[in-house]
Amino acid sequence: MRDHIESNESIRYQLAIETETSSYPIMIGEGLFDACLDTLEKYPSILLLTNDTLLDLYHEGVIGLLQKSLPFLSCMSIPDGERYKNIDTLREIYERLLSRGVARDGCVVAFGGGVVGDVAGFAAATFMRGIDYVQIPTTLLAMVDSSIGGKTGINLPKGKNMIGSFHHPRAVFCDLDFLDTLPKREYHAGMMEVIKYGLILDDAFYGFISANREQIASRDREAVAYLIYRSCQLKAQIVVQDEKEKGIRAILNFGHTIGHAIESHTNYATYLHGEAVALGALALIRHLVDKNMLDCHVLEGFIGMLQFFELPTFLPPAVDVDAVMSHIAYDKKRGSGIPKWVTLNRIGFVTWGQSVELEEIREVLRGLQKNG
Ligand code: NAD
Ligand code: GLY
Repeated sequence: MRDHIESNESIRYQLAIETETSSYPIMIGEGLFDACLDTLEKYPSILLLTNDTLLDLYHEGVIGLLQKSLPFLSCMSIPDGERYKNIDTLREIYERLLSRGVARDGCVVAFGGGVVGDVAGFAAATFMRGIDYVQIPTTLLAMVDSSIGGKTGINLPKGKNMIGSFHHPRAVFCDLDFLDTLPKREYHAGMMEVIKYGLILDDAFYGFISANREQIASRDREAVAYLIYRSCQLKAQIVVQDEKEKGIRAILNFGHTIGHAIESHTNYATYLHGEAVALGALALIRHLVDKNMLDCHVLEGFIGMLQFFELPTFLPPAVDVDAVMSHIAYDKKRGSGIPKWVTLNRIGFVTWGQSVELEEIREVLRGLQKNG
């Protein structure tokens, strides 16, 4: 007999990702508990990984009900924060998988944001040479980006996501109910990845975000469901073309080179990921406008969008631009040695593989300090 959550199940959208190596559904809606049970009940052993914040919020709700309905499901919680996406956490997960008797036919469930999703996914990718995992993303960023596409990994002290693998989940359940408890700042940071999809791939979607910004900010269910659906669809279109990021998938990193450098330079303590990416995208767009490669109205509109979603539009003077530039140079060197950038021609159209003068980026970043 199943225990039910008091909510009406409604799958508003469903899509499938079909790559060369895997195929899985993404469901977007509310009260997806039963759909989730349908997927999980075939596994003889399951480890649900979450963090302490989500355990507090949901142990009497979804987590407790999953445990009641699935006797072979055990729960493990890790401390909250990017710094726990590390090798010590990974070791603890392996130990728990072993002590709970999870075998090759078992499953890991990632219940959380991108941090939980990445580390749970990597544990599943590597435990016994790879077992199944299911994503139940609880942040907007995880719903539109990190839970889909199969990138999993952990950080090393030297850098983010330095150890990882491609391992796709068996299913993704984007339940809008979880967004009710997500802090506003996290929600807005997640919006940056949504805006990114519009900027690089779909001018109509960018227009949709702009026209519906009030509904989106107030988390109107209909608007948010479409937002997640279209974001997943756009990401899926790229992932299926280039599963292992040998080429075009790099466009999904628009704004990320500068963003990662800002995050890393500020020790991941000042900016959320989406906030740093907002600054990275802003610097790049300003650079392209300065070079007459992009219409200045794109810059004006983008700044308006950032301001509306309370994302940063300038760099505080305390940020050491030279140090940020060293991170960028290091990041680019780690690649093939040829600095490759993702640039924008107009909204919805990107080019990949361009070279950009690092000195010009330095000047733009200094400009973002002065304009503050
Ligand atoms: P996160 O996982 O740290 O979650 C953000 C915060 O929100 C945390 O404090 C978390 O406890 C809290 N939270 C989560 N869901 C909540 C809810 N429903 N209610 C209340 N609080 C909630 O951060 P994130 O932004 O989700 O993910 C960032 C991570 O994702 C980074 O590690 C990044 O590298 C990774 N990432 C991975 C990919 C990928 O393709 N694998 C893509 C983008 C980002
Ligand atoms: N977040 C970028 C990617 O999945 O490729």
